[in-house]
Amino acid sequence: MTPPRVAILISGRGSNLAALIEDAEAERYCEIALVISNRPNAPGLALAAGRGIEALTLDHKTFATREAFDAALDAALRARKIDVVALAGFMRILSGGFVARWLGRLINIHPSLLPAFPGVKVHEQALAAKVKVSGATIHFVVPELDSGPIIGQASVPVHPHDTPETLAARVLEAEHKLYPLCLRMVCEKRVRLESSRAAFAANGPVILGFGD
Ligand code: GRF
Repeated sequence: MTPPRVAILISGRGSNLAALIEDAEAERYCEIALVISNRPNAPGLALAAGRGIEALTLDHKTFATREAFDAALDAALRARKIDVVALAGFMRILSGGFVARWLGRLINIHPSLLPAFPGVKVHEQALAAKVKVSGATIHFVVPELDSGPIIGQASVPVHPHDTPETLAARVLEAEHKLYPLCLRMVCEKRVRLESSRAAFAANGPVILGFGD
């Protein structure tokens, strides 16, 4: 069976992208066929190109509306016969129409244990709430922001003297381990979106826990 063709959508650095490329190349459960950034200078674009992956910029500032941008995104994905789309630090809200078209084949990473701390300034929110554990979540994308059915989560401790930066770095390490495992589950159809829940074929969700 040919492995599914995956597109990764980014806006910046691309460290999750790098982790996904690394794992997919080693384990061959998918072909990362395309990387799209909505920001022209995203470092992740060069990273992808350097690995021989098509790297495309769709600058959202050049589109009149969100729907026009999403239509171009959809066309680019379809033209390359993409099966699964993984958002990795993609800082654009996708329209309901786009999400509906890719429902069940569109996943996202968020750097908290959802449903805690959706949106932006996530680590600031976690520190303000004085939680003792934070982490990362991979979920199916649904129209409501950061609230789709959960595929996997990884937890890390929050230390008393953490700053948003130190906590972000600890969570990011966990993200790099969690995301490839979850993408693999989607690609191997070991999890699928069933109305409003994630249905697992075997073994249930990915749950990782890290010490310090
Ligand atoms: C990650 O922390 C991700 O969870 C968040 O944005 C960051 C992207 O980092 N949504 P990178 O571009 O993958 O390095």
